[in-house]
Amino acid sequence: MSARIFATAARTAVRSAAPRAFAVQAARPMSLLAKSVQTTAVKSTIAQQVRGYKTLDFGGTKEVVYERSDVPREKLLETFKDDTIAVLGYGPQGRGQALNLRDNGVNVIIGQREGKTYQQAVEEGWVPGKNLFPVLEATEKGSVVMNLLSDAYQKAIWPEMAPLLTPGKTLYFSHGFSVVYKDQTNVIPPKDIDVVLVAPKGSGFTVRRLFQEGRGINSSFAVFQDASGKAKDRTIALGVGIGSGYLYETTFSKEVHSDLVGERGVLMGAIQGLFQAQYEVLRANGHSPSEAFNETVEEATQSLYPLIGEKGLAYMFANCSTTAQRGALDWWKPFYTASKPVFEDLYESTRNGSETARSLDRNSKADYREKLEAELREISDSEMWRAGETVRSLRPENQ
Ligand SMILES: NC(=O)c1ccc[n+]([C@@H]2O[C@H](COP(=O)([O-])OP(=O)(O)OC[C@H]3O[C@@H](n4cnc5c(N)ncnc54)[C@H](OP(=O)(O)O)[C@@H]3O)[C@@H](O)[C@H]2O)c1
Repeated sequence: MSARIFATAARTAVRSAAPRAFAVQAARPMSLLAKSVQTTAVKSTIAQQVRGYKTLDFGGTKEVVYERSDVPREKLLETFKDDTIAVLGYGPQGRGQALNLRDNGVNVIIGQREGKTYQQAVEEGWVPGKNLFPVLEATEKGSVVMNLLSDAYQKAIWPEMAPLLTPGKTLYFSHGFSVVYKDQTNVIPPKDIDVVLVAPKGSGFTVRRLFQEGRGINSSFAVFQDASGKAKDRTIALGVGIGSGYLYETTFSKEVHSDLVGERGVLMGAIQGLFQAQYEVLRANGHSPSEAFNETVEEATQSLYPLIGEKGLAYMFANCSTTAQRGALDWWKPFYTASKPVFEDLYESTRNGSETARSLDRNSKADYREKLEAELREISDSEMWRAGETVRSLRPENQ
């Protein structure tokens, strides 16, 4: 996803919504995420409740989840009272996580190279020489080093960063990429530090926005190396500090594989492929751009997908006509049969490292940002998305 698109949206959001402190989150009785977990899981069983975390039944499998209330503000501040948390990178994730930690009262500094993103950090209250530094200087100062640089740059800077990760420090990631694909990245952390991960299930922009709304994002977390003996508790506390509502335990390896598949698949890649294919077939059969767009994208995002988010797919189906239900029940299987081999190829391509190799190769080039933006423009300039611009402008709320 283009960091620049997010950066622009983020700038707009930060101007329109003043940061709100931890107290705002805590004051809310229950987030929407909490409610949805309750609806889908808690109804059946809360098998046990130990020290505030819960074992819940997820469709027949029991899993432990941790939540914000497990780490009240006093506990968060106590946990990191002797720490300097260095957030490296002020891209979408770095920005969202750093601002949330700052609003929660934790001692945070930023490591960011000079340029447009650095200027944004200054505009948002980070002060050069006080809590805004070059990347390696922040690494040196931090006792918790949150590596939120791009995955390609994490590889490039590792030889200079590794010697600064002295015994007792914590190295934190939001993706298992660099550590799991060490054969490609050479990121092999020293043995005497904690190495942990909290991966929000959404963009950094959403991490910030949900926090400002008093809600919280779902995140997974993992401990790769526990030198301190306290890594798990500290990781859960970090997860809460960055704005997570619920935290699900995983491993670095599981996180990286599921994340790479998800973004290439249903979350981003597959959705554009499906939209484009249906739109083209409608257009080839004489439908106007507005009709093809409304029937492919607008109805999905404005009417039907929010229903899936609320109460699941059967609920969405049940709220459509019986004609629509009959057709959808007949046709989901051919789509499933056609796409399952593509998902299997995708998983294999992730597992065998070819996805990460391509990503590192392309995103390490000096002009990678321009190249990504040119490819994104091909999508936004296509007839379907240009038609969408007009359709969106005609929504009553945009009149
Ligand atoms: N985006 C998501 O949805 C998401 C979700 C969960 C986890 N993550 C993970 O979070 C981490 C950060 O991702 P992100 O979304 O914030 O954006 P990103 O675009 O992957 O990273 C942006 C940061 O990296 C810096 N950077 C990139 N190339 C650089 C270079 N050559 N020299 C110095 N700095 C460089 C950028 O600085 P400039 O702006 O100056 O280029 C910016 O601070 C990644 O590990 C990612 O996988 C992302």
